Amino acid sequence: MSGFVEVFEVGPRDGLQNEKRLISAAEKIALVDLLSTAGFRRIEVASFVSPKWVPQMATSADVLGGIKRADGISYAALTPNMRGLEGAIMAKADEVAIFGSASEGFSKANINASIAESLERFRPVAEAAKGAGIPVRGYISCVVNCPYDGPTPPQSVAAVARELQAMGCYELSLGDTTGHAYPSEIKDMFRAVRDAVPDARLAGHYHDTSGRALENIEASLQEGVRVFDAAIGGLGGCPYAPGAAGNVATEAVHQRLRDLGYTTGLDAGILEQAAKMAQALRSAETTA
Ligand code: HMG
Ligand code: MG
Repeated sequence: MSGFVEVFEVGPRDGLQNEKRLISAAEKIALVDLLSTAGFRRIEVASFVSPKWVPQMATSADVLGGIKRADGISYAALTPNMRGLEGAIMAKADEVAIFGSASEGFSKANINASIAESLERFRPVAEAAKGAGIPVRGYISCVVNCPYDGPTPPQSVAAVARELQAMGCYELSLGDTTGHAYPSEIKDMFRAVRDAVPDARLAGHYHDTSGRALENIEASLQEGVRVFDAAIGGLGGCPYAPGAAGNVATEAVHQRLRDLGYTTGLDAGILEQAAKMAQALRSAETTA
């Protein structure tokens, strides 16, 4: 095996959003600035959502305003609606993401909308972003299991993928939000999505609740996927996916990819430093 695999760092957003202690913008900025020296092409640093729903992300504009932007890195933000997009544009996010679900229960719990309502909400966001020249990524959550509805049929993922692709998302990130998927389920899901949207760029987004995220990455590589989201230090969880653990750790993904003979462009020494910094943010949380 050889070739380049991109790791999309999502720690400063997906990683930190679930921490209970309100981490200051300065602490987040220090983490992003260190991550910016590690070799990533994309780092998700912000989320323009309701501060009542996710208080930890309320400093997103300060984070985007305070980081040292490195050449060649796209700094990304989540935008659930037009208000979020306006915030992201004001704060000069380089790209934005709309985030839907393949299961009704999670859609309702996470963004207070049915799948159909959420897609109607995303359509103007995607159009306006395109008009402003901002690339839009699409997330689909609960692609194998949902904490509310149980198993997700692969066809439900394919149906949402078709809609997000039609809205112009440049890449679709498929999320095992609960972190319980098995490699065979991941493969079946990717095959169904690939049949529905053969031209789409697909990425894998795995939480590591059951310790199978690296196996799921290997299964996805076998399906031709070459982009994986990960969070430094294995930070994370989703406030609306009870029991879900953090994202698969960036440094572990990097190591596994290297062992498999892939290149990532990432610096292992910096990842190690950043993982320590991320874990210190978390231990400050447990002692707070
Ligand atoms: P709602 O209550 O239906 O919306 O929430 P609303 O329009 O009725 O607004 C409610 C309040 O929120 C109002 O304030 C709005 O002004 C405000 P109030 O009048 O009560 O003071 N509001 C906003 N404030 C700031 N920025 C905004 C915004 N929009 C409305 N953009 C809404 C709908 C989508 C806003 C809400 O459900 C929400 O914010 N949800 C976000 C939940 C979230 O961030 N979850 C985590 C990210 S997803 C994830 O982690 C999964 C992923 O990693 C992939 C995977 O792992 O599967 C991506
Ligand atoms: Mg996630």
